[in-house]
Amino acid sequence: MSAQIIDGKALAAATKAEAAAEAAALKVQGIEPCLAVILVGKNPASQVYVRGKVKDCGECGIKSLELRMPETTTQEELLAKIAELAADKTVNGILVQLPLPKQIDERAVIDAIPPEKDVDGFSPVNVGRMQTGQPCFLPCTPAGCIRMIESTGTKIDGKNAVVIGRSNIVGKPAGPCCLAGPKKCQTVTVCHSHTANLKEICANADILVAAVGRAGFVTGDMVKPGAVVIDVGINRGADGKLHGDVNFEEASAVAGYITPVPGGVGPMTRAMLMKNTTQAAAMQNGVAI
Ligand code: GUN
Repeated sequence: MSAQIIDGKALAAATKAEAAAEAAALKVQGIEPCLAVILVGKNPASQVYVRGKVKDCGECGIKSLELRMPETTTQEELLAKIAELAADKTVNGILVQLPLPKQIDERAVIDAIPPEKDVDGFSPVNVGRMQTGQPCFLPCTPAGCIRMIESTGTKIDGKNAVVIGRSNIVGKPAGPCCLAGPKKCQTVTVCHSHTANLKEICANADILVAAVGRAGFVTGDMVKPGAVVIDVGINRGADGKLHGDVNFEEASAVAGYITPVPGGVGPMTRAMLMKNTTQAAAMQNGVAI
C-alpha cells in the first residue's frame, strides 16, 4: 500500500471542536444552538444515523430535539410538525432524515423547511445559492469531502476532479461545492455508473469522489497514480460489514491519499452538520462566530 490514509475520525473531531467552540461563544451571548432531527419510521440505517447526530450535538454543546414519528405518518402530519419547528425561535436547524416512507413526497418536505433552518443544505434556495457561489448552507457530505481533500495539503485549484454518482445529496452538489469555494477546481466532471469511458475519465482524475452506492465499484485501474480518493459509499455486505464504493486494497496501492470506510466520510458529514447548526444559530440571531 502506498496511499496515505485520510483519517475522517480525527478530522471530524477537530471540526466538532470548532463547532463546540462556536456553540460556547453563542451561549456566552445567551443563545443556545438547537437542532431538531425528525425520523419517520424505523429504517435501521436511519436510526443509526439519527442516533449519531444526536450524540454529536451533545458532544458539541448543541441542544437536540429527537422527534420520532411512526411509519404511518401522513404528509400533512409531517408538514405540520415542520411548520411548528419553523415557527419556534428556539430551534435553529431542522433536519428530516431521508429516505421517507413512500406515502410522503420528499420534495414537498424539503421545500417546507425554511432555507435559514435548512442545515442539510437541501432546499432549492440553498442549492441555488450554492450554484451561484452565494453564502449558503453547503450540503454536509460534499462539504466534508472538501475538508478532507484540503487536509491533505493538495492544491485544489487547477485540478481535475471527478465525482461518480449523481444523487441530490452528494453527486450533484459535489461539483458546485468544489467550484463555489475560494479554492476552485478547474474541471469537475460528474459521472454515473453508465457514463461511457468511465474508467478512462476516472483514471485522469487528480481528485476522485466515489458516491455510486456499489461496494468495490472503483477498482485500482480507475485510479490515477497519486490521486486523492474520497469514498462516500457505505454498503452493507453479505458479510455484515460496511464496504465503501472503492476497492480499498487495489486503490490504495495506486492513490496518494485515500479515505477508509468506515471512519472516513461518515464522521465528517456529521461534523459538518454541527458547523451548519452553529452557523444557523448565529445567523438567526444576527451575531458573528
Ligand atoms: N439520508 C442519508 N444522508 C442524509 C443526509 O445527509 N441528510 C438527511 N436529512 N438524510 C440523509
